[in-house]
Amino acid sequence: MGHSTEKSKGTVCVTGATGFVASWLIKCLLQDGYRVRGAVRDPENYEKAAHLWALSGAKERLQLVKGDLLVEGSYDAAVAGCEGVFHTAAALVRIKSDPKPGAVTYLDEYSWSSIFFCTKYQIWYSLAKILSEQEAWKFAFLHSIDLVVVLPSFVIGPCLPYPLSKTAQDICDLLNGGRNFGIHGRMGYVHVDDVARAHILVYETPSAQGRYICSAQEATPQELVQYLADRYPHLQISTKFNDELPKMPYYKLNTTKLQRLGLNCKPLDVMFDDCISFLEEKGLLKRKPEKTPTSSSTPDEHSKDSVLQNV
Ligand SMILES: NC(=O)c1ccc[n+]([C@@H]2O[C@H](COP(=O)([O-])OP(=O)(O)OC[C@H]3O[C@@H](n4cnc5c(N)ncnc54)[C@H](OP(=O)(O)O)[C@@H]3O)[C@@H](O)[C@H]2O)c1
Repeated sequence: MGHSTEKSKGTVCVTGATGFVASWLIKCLLQDGYRVRGAVRDPENYEKAAHLWALSGAKERLQLVKGDLLVEGSYDAAVAGCEGVFHTAAALVRIKSDPKPGAVTYLDEYSWSSIFFCTKYQIWYSLAKILSEQEAWKFAFLHSIDLVVVLPSFVIGPCLPYPLSKTAQDICDLLNGGRNFGIHGRMGYVHVDDVARAHILVYETPSAQGRYICSAQEATPQELVQYLADRYPHLQISTKFNDELPKMPYYKLNTTKLQRLGLNCKPLDVMFDDCISFLEEKGLLKRKPEKTPTSSSTPDEHSKDSVLQNV
């Protein structure tokens, strides 16, 4: 994305506009007074974009145009005349991974995943993210484009698009007792509102440059489900997983660069409270059946100690 050069809120383009992150970003941009041109693959599909048209300010300041990552030149019209571009479009696929354990690693904006590793373990999504970001940096350098990259961890929070996006569906499944989440391994988590706010912050801060990790807190799948089961005992959260948990390197994310710019990410309880109230309002979460005096504990009955205290 390029920096905002004027004080007035001009027109910005958001690619992949119907997506989880993009929809929340568009909500914030409209709230802040921007005119937004959203690029989607099928602007005629009103149903898919209905949640965008329902946003405050959308009728006056949102426009949806066509753009497809796989069609060269198809974003030319979408970005023409825009002061900035928020590029969030991506084909999200489920992750296949089998990484090997390692020592504690501290990751910052200088850290890049290994292309060799991603290829060897067929982690195609991550590989695509590395290669496309590297291309973006080369292109920005050659064409003097002011590029800043926001690197969110796993995004949690209200998901405006329906059907839910893939990662939001994974969380919904987890909250409904699904046992497949372990495949994600140890991850950072961040509120979708912080991801959107981080994008706008780096756009509006002329001194912002390079890459920014945007994440609140890390947790292993086991730590996460135990925390969630303790905090939301009315939900059918399982603390067991179908598969053996992958042995992930114990990394910590260094987020001081974004904090120095003024963004402190909301903690885990806020992101899951917001996510869960949203999913409950939509009727997408199952409650545990009320216990009768004769019913006994289930094998998944969790301990009351939060394991996240040490995270
Ligand atoms: N969700 C997370 O936890 C997370 C974490 C870190 C980074 N990210 C990154 O954040 C960005 C947004 O993620 P998200 O979770 O919001 O994903 P999402 O809900 O799946 O949204 C991605 C959007 O990209 C568009 N898209 C897919 N294939 C496309 C193509 N060939 N050409 C043009 N557009 C295409 C889709 O819009 P249409 O179908 O309407 O065209 C879709 O709505 C991605 O770059 C992702 O890698 C996400």
